Amino acid sequence: MHLYQTLCNHQEKNRSSFHTPGHKNMAGAFPSDLLELDYTELPDTDSLYEAQGAILQAEHAAADLFHVKRTVFSAGGCTLCIQAMLRLAVPDGGKIIMGRVIHRSAINTLALLGIEPVWVLPRPDAGDGLPGRIYAQDVEQALRKEPGAKAVYLTSPDYYGVLSDIEGISEVCRRHRVPLLVDNAHGSHLWYVGEGLHPIQLGATMAADSTHKTLPVLTGGAWLQIAEERYTADVKEAMALFGSTSPAYPIMASLDLCVDWLQQGGQEAYGQLEERVARLKMLAWQNGIRQPLGACDPTRIALDMSSIGMTGKEGADYLRRCGIEPEMADGGYVVLIATPFNSEEDFVRLEQAIRQIPVASPLPTMKETSAPPASQVVSPRQAILGASETRPVFFSVGEIAAEAACPCPPGVPVVMPGERITEKAAEFLSTYGISYIKVLK
Ligand SMILES: Cc1ncc(COP(=O)(O)O)c(C=O)c1O
Repeated sequence: MHLYQTLCNHQEKNRSSFHTPGHKNMAGAFPSDLLELDYTELPDTDSLYEAQGAILQAEHAAADLFHVKRTVFSAGGCTLCIQAMLRLAVPDGGKIIMGRVIHRSAINTLALLGIEPVWVLPRPDAGDGLPGRIYAQDVEQALRKEPGAKAVYLTSPDYYGVLSDIEGISEVCRRHRVPLLVDNAHGSHLWYVGEGLHPIQLGATMAADSTHKTLPVLTGGAWLQIAEERYTADVKEAMALFGSTSPAYPIMASLDLCVDWLQQGGQEAYGQLEERVARLKMLAWQNGIRQPLGACDPTRIALDMSSIGMTGKEGADYLRRCGIEPEMADGGYVVLIATPFNSEEDFVRLEQAIRQIPVASPLPTMKETSAPPASQVVSPRQAILGASETRPVFFSVGEIAAEAACPCPPGVPVVMPGERITEKAAEFLSTYGISYIKVLK
């Protein structure tokens, strides 16, 4: 009973959940019999990868709500949606233009499918210590340099809620006749925020939504959203290539229930959430806490604790002492995920913590968040699947990285698998506390 007991103990602390999942473990978020519906593929219950009955109908209801050509359920998280999306757009390998703010699920998929990335770097315009945004003109330039690229792939919003210019980038992709694939793990709810900020609404071809992060869905539930007919026929096959043959029915049922919940009150719930979070962010600014600049998800709370003299990790510990569990902390920032399932008491607790937070002089700002990318010597496939060994970072200069190395994992990797490790990269990694790295033997 180790894990079960640990979870019960954590629950007893009664911390306000500002982390995933989006349902916040709220009593009544799901019908009380949901876990009793843990069935399998039966003649009555349909089958995810060969859906013809209730699962297909539930997926169609979602697609109707979102006005997309196809919504496909995943009980294997957004990771499975990312794998399927890349398989559909780049089925037999080749080059792809990729934003360098990237989750490891995508890096691993490059290896599995033999895809070779051509990197586009974000411009650090969201503030110190943040990766920043991918710009349309940089994507345009990359596509001109690499006319054989089969797709453009990027992550937006990022962990801090920072949005890239999906509208501008999708326009560029349309002109170059390549699909735009968006890792929208943190933005499943964006249909209902602002004027509608979901990547599909802004012109993306496909988007992978980690639905469980921000919507009332059990952990592991995700949607692949497809805007173009030509990718719909093979989508189940693409998912089945990577997914478990035992997708959890309660997870899929929670995706189905979420569609109903959004239909009935999503717009209103998110309108209220935006307004509540805006007040909280204003209070944080008034207390001297910097936050990301420019276009951002209005519901994501990212607090730069370094602006009041704390590291992100110290800030997270402070919040825990105030009864709040954040989503993530790095060198400077604490990230909190707020959803309509947070109670007013959660927000009041967070506001009190912000009001009472000890304010000191800002820490020195982290101007650079990554080193310039080094040259790609072998493909990610050769690097990740090849024989490797672990080396101290300082004895790795000149070697070929067999893994991605990133000082703060949601940020821009300093080294990608297949790149030669430069002195600058090794110095950078050491400065940020990374002492070992896997290199090719
Ligand atoms: C940007 C990004 N993409 C993809 C994923 C993978 O999502 P999932 O955990 O639903 O597989 C994550 C998870 O944290 C993420 O942050």
